Amino acid sequence: MYKEMFDLSGKVAIVTGSSRGIGEAIALAYSEFGAKLVLASRKLEGLNTVREKIESSGGEAICIPTHMGDPTSIENLVAETMKYFGTIDILVNNAATNPFFGPTIEASESVWDKIIDVNLKGAFLLTKAVGKIMIEKNEGCIINICSEAAIRPMPGLGVYSISKAGLDMITKVFAQELGQYGIRVNGIAPGLAQTKFSKALWGNEEIKKMVVSRLPLGRIAQPHEIAGTAVFLASRASSFITGHTIVADGGSLVS
Ligand SMILES: NC(=O)c1ccc[n+]([C@@H]2O[C@H](COP(=O)([O-])OP(=O)(O)OC[C@H]3O[C@@H](n4cnc5c(N)ncnc54)[C@H](OP(=O)(O)O)[C@@H]3O)[C@@H](O)[C@H]2O)c1
Repeated sequence: MYKEMFDLSGKVAIVTGSSRGIGEAIALAYSEFGAKLVLASRKLEGLNTVREKIESSGGEAICIPTHMGDPTSIENLVAETMKYFGTIDILVNNAATNPFFGPTIEASESVWDKIIDVNLKGAFLLTKAVGKIMIEKNEGCIINICSEAAIRPMPGLGVYSISKAGLDMITKVFAQELGQYGIRVNGIAPGLAQTKFSKALWGNEEIKKMVVSRLPLGRIAQPHEIAGTAVFLASRASSFITGHTIVADGGSLVS
């Protein structure tokens, strides 16, 4: 009985930013637990590689190239998913961008627009569109990949931190409003994980040493270490949890 609580058999899951990194790990994990995947990011090549991995282990996935900063592209993602699978059970808002590293006072308006458009507005628009489909079904799970930076601003990543704090509130607002329809909305706030996104941090020996030295677990995360929490939050194992963000930071916030 308890093993089945984690089962995602037959569920249709959209994972944005699933061509690599944390999004890829979540997509692979969902597939292993039985879900059918909609892989979405800008570039088809990376998505196809993940689709092939899923198919070679007996799973099912389609790729829909999507730009999370473009409302038309987001509409297309939902329309194509509905055309192919006819429903959406799980949404993971994972795609994010950060084109700027430095003092926030130097961040340009265009940097602000890009980060907020992709990390915040994109997640808002996709949550609205998918939320309407889930309301019809009276069930669904939405998971936002937030960040430790939403809780404690990351030096050099000011606008990004602001966008993630906003995503945290998207989680709470939609959890409050959609709970009555059986829809749960939760978040995951990873600490530093070894992906392309954060290479400027872990790829610099000095910065990595500094980060690791104050982490209770004494190391940074690998992408698959975030996937288990995503399975938990998408499954019946977390059926009474909504409106929360689980921090997966190797103990960073207690250091
Ligand atoms: N790595 C960390 O240390 C860390 C820590 C805390 C939180 N996070 C969060 O974890 C999530 C995943 O990041 P990651 O570390 O796994 O990064 P990653 O390996 O660089 O992957 C980012 C993914 O997002 C996609 N993407 C980027 N811009 C996009 C856009 N405008 N529209 C659609 N897709 C887009 C990328 O594919 P395309 O290039 O094909 O679009 C890729 O699939 C992000 O929300 C990030 O903020 C990461």
